[in-house]
Amino acid sequence: MAGMNLRLAFAVLSSACWSAFQHGYNTGVMNAPQAVMSEWLQKEALSGTNSSIPPDQDPKVTNVWSITVSIYCVGGMLGGVITGVVANRFGRKRGLLLNNILVFLGALLESTARVAKSAEMLILGRFFIGVNNGLNAGLAPMYLAEISPVSLRGSIGTVYQLVITITILLSQVLGLSSVLGTEDGWPWLLALTIVPAILQCVTLPLCPESPKYLLLNKAQELHAQRALNWLRGDVAVHGEMEEMHQEAEKNKVSKKVTLRELFGNRRLRQPLLIAMMVMVAQQFSGINAVISFSTDIFKKANLSEAQSQYATLGTGVMNVVMTVVSLVLVEAAGRRTLLLAGFSGMFVVTVLLCIALLYTHVVWVSYVCIALVILFVVMFATGPGSIPWFLVTELFNQSARPAATAVAVTVNWTANFIVIWSFLPLRLALGSYTFVIFAFLQFIFIMFIFFKVPETKNKTIEEITAMFRQQI
Ligand code: GLC
Repeated sequence: MAGMNLRLAFAVLSSACWSAFQHGYNTGVMNAPQAVMSEWLQKEALSGTNSSIPPDQDPKVTNVWSITVSIYCVGGMLGGVITGVVANRFGRKRGLLLNNILVFLGALLESTARVAKSAEMLILGRFFIGVNNGLNAGLAPMYLAEISPVSLRGSIGTVYQLVITITILLSQVLGLSSVLGTEDGWPWLLALTIVPAILQCVTLPLCPESPKYLLLNKAQELHAQRALNWLRGDVAVHGEMEEMHQEAEKNKVSKKVTLRELFGNRRLRQPLLIAMMVMVAQQFSGINAVISFSTDIFKKANLSEAQSQYATLGTGVMNVVMTVVSLVLVEAAGRRTLLLAGFSGMFVVTVLLCIALLYTHVVWVSYVCIALVILFVVMFATGPGSIPWFLVTELFNQSARPAATAVAVTVNWTANFIVIWSFLPLRLALGSYTFVIFAFLQFIFIMFIFFKVPETKNKTIEEITAMFRQQI
């Protein structure tokens, strides 16, 4: 890849890979060990449970389990809210580094909860990890966008999502009952999240702070140039320094954008609406309903427990494979095209799935269901999975990027929370028709993207923000 070099790759690994590891791993990790952990809650951690019924029918256990799973998204929302402040105050790199304190705290609480027989420690640990993940989802894509050459911004931005998909899969595999998803194994499964935090603390200090942050926020010309020299592996960085200077000139006039200005400024309204809508679209497409409940969906389609678990691993593998493909496609086909193709594909697949789920008593239809669920994930990974994370950082200049990212990331986690909380009750009430809701929402998002989202491929941030200025 032109513009890629070993140091830049090392900076991508040290920042985004370890951060996205936290995000993906903790998204998937509670899925497989649900049964053994619920049993522990019923027998050892909670009082007032009814051990004469199975844990998954004990209301006290299921309530505490729901809180444990979803408190993570609440933490994510909070992490999103403080992203802008942390990014401006500590910088992107230092913000990412400090964020690891939350992992050490969270993992310690989660993994010692079993010996302490404490559900509260487990819940608090999940919350800390959630805050860490929300902050990562803002800081890491921001750092990536600011260290990437224009022609690689999309591919490098996609790395964040790629690592999420790989680590969701890793957590699914490690969570199997033949690996760590056991009575004694689950504290280790949860403790493992400390490994990427240690790796980040060792590798990221060797990388420079974002040159844009150094120049535009701190006015440290020499440091910014050195950072750029390091990242490009080249002394000739005049062109990029010149571009940053031009942005710095404009920044002097526009200063740091606060949340209130972000919502009040007409020029920022359009990109902000786009940033929020693509985040809502990513989550309301129903992806996490499928990721979190796929084994259950397969079982309802009359597959055996073992078949369902393998089919779930199949969705995880295809999520990774297709995200690799999208990493290449995103610079060739463009963001807008891939978003449209991905959501349109999801729409068709969801409609077919609604129909197929009505006929699961016919044996071959069960297999069609597996194929459709896998295809659903494939279409998601084409673009809706990766693009929203970095599109936000492309739509705003340096002064508005932190505040806009904070809003977008918070919207993402809130929408994620809503889907996870409402999916099971909705399915109880509507059965297979629940997917009709997702299909309807996907259709609206396709229309929105078609009419409102511009192509940002190969454009500098200056050119992108100028497009919005012309529109008003
Ligand atoms: C995106 C979503 C995340 C989801 C993942 C699945 O990163 O933000 O919620 O779990 O994709 O690949």
